[in-house]
Formats: sequence, C-alpha cells, structure tokens
Amino acid sequence: MPIVLHIKDIRKVWHIERTKEQVVALDGISLDVERGEFLVLVGPSGCGKSTLLQIIAGLENPASGGIELSKSLDGHKETGMVFQEYALFPWRTVLENIVFGPEVRSVPKVEREANAQRLIELVRLRGFEHRYPHELSGGMRQRVALARALANDPAVLCFDEPLASLDAQTRKVLQVELVRIWQETKRTFIYVTHALDEAVLLGDRVVLFTARPGRIKEIVPVRLPRPRTITGKQEVELLEYLSERIRDEVERSLKAEGLT
Ligand SMILES: Nc1ncnc2c1ncn2[C@@H]1O[C@H](COP(=O)(O)OP(=O)(O)O)[C@@H](O)[C@H]1O
Ligand SMILES: [Mg+2]
Repeated sequence: MPIVLHIKDIRKVWHIERTKEQVVALDGISLDVERGEFLVLVGPSGCGKSTLLQIIAGLENPASGGIELSKSLDGHKETGMVFQEYALFPWRTVLENIVFGPEVRSVPKVEREANAQRLIELVRLRGFEHRYPHELSGGMRQRVALARALANDPAVLCFDEPLASLDAQTRKVLQVELVRIWQETKRTFIYVTHALDEAVLLGDRVVLFTARPGRIKEIVPVRLPRPRTITGKQEVELLEYLSERIRDEVERSLKAEGLT
C-alpha cells in the first residue's frame, strides 16, 4: 500500500506559561501511515495521543520533526478531525453543520448541498437534516461530526476518542458503523482510543504508545477478518496481548502523576 502520511521524528514540548513548566509530550515519533488503512493509536492517559492528532491535523506545530501528506491522484491533500466532544455549531442544523466547511471554501450551494445529502445518507441521518444538535442523541451527534469532517473530502480522518462519552450499546452500534463508513469511503482513518477492545475491533494496525514522553512502543498488525467480534478466540488473544503490553506503561504514567 502506498504511504499517505509520513510522520517524521516528531518532538513536541508544551510550555506552560503560568508555572514555567515544560512538558515533553512526544519524543521521536516516526510512523508511515498507509493509504486506506484503519490505524488505531492506544496508550496511557497523558502520553500525547491527542497532541499527535493535533499536529497531524495541522492545529499545532511540533518542536522538531514534521508530517508530510502525500498528494492523492485526484490532488486532494487534507486532514480532517472528528473530536471527542461533538464540536458542532449549536445554532446550525444538521445540514447546516455538514455544509459548513464547503461553505467557507465557497463551494457552490447546489454542489455542497447535494454532497451533504449524500453524506446524510451515508451516516444514516435521513429525516434529521433539520434538527439542531441539542435535539439529537449523543450517537447521532457523532454521526453529524463524521459527516461534517467528510464534507471537506479529507484524505486522512483523525478521530480523538469519538465514542468515549457514549453508552455501551450506542458505542457498539457506532463501532460497526465506523467500519462500514471506512470501507465505503476508502479513506485513511487515524483513530485514538484508550479502549483496547475497540482497537482490536477496528484496527488494521494498533500503535502502542509508552507513558509520557510518548514514544512508539510497538506496532501490532491485526490480521483478523472483519466483521470481528470481541468474544472471538483470536480477538480475545490479541486483547490479552495488548493489555499485557500496555500494563507497564499505565503503571508508569500513574506513578508519574503521583497516583500510586
Ligand atoms: N495545550 C496544552 N498545554 C499544555 N500542556 C498540554 C496541552 N495539551 C496537552 N498537554 C500535556 O501534554 C501531555 C500529553 O497530553 P495529551 O496529548 O492530551 O495526551 P493523551 O491524549 O494521550 O491523553 C499531558 O501531560 C498534557 O497535560
Ligand atoms: Mg487525549
């Protein structure tokens, strides 16, 4: 598979103005992301996963190193972000939220609305186009957030724990939906989660991070056919392996926070 994104030796230091503290969030992250893959990032809380996504999405700059996004055949070169908090505009309807990006880029109205209608179909929100975010369930809001990111036609979509605040049942449904939408859109997904079972269900590869400063500890390929079930024998084995590998890092990160 061709590489869609080169991540080259990224180091990120946060400077905390008030206390003059310096936090090394990421230290020497290098990774090649393949076109069309579902890449999952897992690691203990505070290891820099969100920081890396912000750098990939162009919202933050690294102290050193960088990212390079390959131009696709049709010339597209965009990353999009689906945040954990829904980050939808509360004063805009579903449809108005989805067309927001194209509107800013002055895509003609007919074109952006036709595209939004296709996306509403894709994320199965037909009938809810004219609702406001507060009139939707958490799961539906996350569908809107995904459609809104897709409306910008990004080559790479970044997800920062999008299902973390949903109830277990809704999370299950959306995990299946995410795989379906990934397969239908053939986009590259970079997906942060702290839930190892989610990593096993979703990922083509799972990148395990160390405790802060975040480094890549191991990249685990997931060679299991889809659809996967968390109770499948191979799935359970992989889940146990990931739990084992991450245990030390979680303990280290708790120690660093003075919690043990
Ligand atoms: N905007 C920021 N300013 C200062 N420190 C930050 C900022 N964002 C994150 N950090 C710090 O960087 C480290 C990594 O954070 P983060 O990327 O959010 O980790 P994760 O998403 O893996 O939980 C943490 O110690 C966090 O407190
Ligand atoms: Mg985070």
